[in-house]
Amino acid sequence: MLVLGIESSCDETAAALVTADRTIVAEAIASQDDAHRPFGGVVPEIAARAHAERLAPMISQVLADGGVTLADCDAIAATAGPGLIGGVMVGLVTAKALAMAGDKPLLAVNHLEGHALSPRLADPALQFPYALLLVSGGHCQLLRVEGVGRYTRIATTIDDALGEAFDKTAKILGLGFPGGPAVERHAAHGNSAAVPLPRPLLGSAEPHFSFAGLKSAVLRAHDSGQHDSADIAASFQRAAIDCLLDRTRRGLARMADVTAMVVAGGVARNAAVREALEALAAAHALPFIAPPPALCTDNAAMIAWAGIERLQAGFAADPLDVAARPRWPLDPAAEAVRGAGYKA
Ligand code: KG4
Ligand code: ZN
Repeated sequence: MLVLGIESSCDETAAALVTADRTIVAEAIASQDDAHRPFGGVVPEIAARAHAERLAPMISQVLADGGVTLADCDAIAATAGPGLIGGVMVGLVTAKALAMAGDKPLLAVNHLEGHALSPRLADPALQFPYALLLVSGGHCQLLRVEGVGRYTRIATTIDDALGEAFDKTAKILGLGFPGGPAVERHAAHGNSAAVPLPRPLLGSAEPHFSFAGLKSAVLRAHDSGQHDSADIAASFQRAAIDCLLDRTRRGLARMADVTAMVVAGGVARNAAVREALEALAAAHALPFIAPPPALCTDNAAMIAWAGIERLQAGFAADPLDVAARPRWPLDPAAEAVRGAGYKA
């Protein structure tokens, strides 16, 4: 089985060919960092336009690199949400056109399911159910992954996502865009004990996350003019990880039967985050699984793989009029969290 995957939900345009035996036959990814840098964040309209310009030639390139044609693909999988709606529509409409032209099944993939199943693309041994910490620019959730399409949300953020907190810290400290990797690099030169910062929700009974207060404290520490920016970056990263560990520990107590502690999403690229979670998993006698860095940030291989998993699990293909969705929670039954804004 060979599936073409398309990703366009944020600021990466990506296409990939993946087989059911976990081979990434060909892939391409174009980040839009340069286009968004002057604005210090992703501008939805610029993102949608860039996806529209790049996607079609990129798909041709990936098919050529793989030495195949559309006729050789068994299905077309594209992110159908959640994400910036203009970009999602570009990718989904492209997938619909290819599915129609090639008479192939269309798979409208939840981007979050792409992240959630990406560790299984990298590690065939990973079995359900597993505990998944999904930490990206738009989401910070602890999930019990029971199977393809079966997720129980154990915890979520009541305000900012963790990646968002990294990005805003970078912006405050003038470290540039994208922020997460810049904060990690800068933190390496700082003292993580130098700046007293809060640990929101630490010790609270429900395992939810909160990072908005930490971000505000970073702003105050910066504005005070009393601290070295590397010390602020290091102290921020330490405080964020302390929160992540405390909250995840609390959530793990509600998932006695899981086979592994898994992390996915862009922030899973952070070495300090990975190290801390690995120790937490060890303390719970659980294997720790994190996808290789390139599979953590947005990519199309994880979308193709989620499509393959859906087909293998017996899910039907999607109709050609399936809609793009700006919001699409993995666990629709999860209740809104007190104090939370719009994030699921
Ligand atoms: O999964 P992803 O590529 O896109 C979303 O679906 O959001 O995640 C992007 C997020 C950004 O907030 C970025 O700053 C963060 O992941 N990130 C990192 C690192 N690399 C990427 N955060 C901390 N440390 C990193 N090394
Ligand atoms: Zn993502």
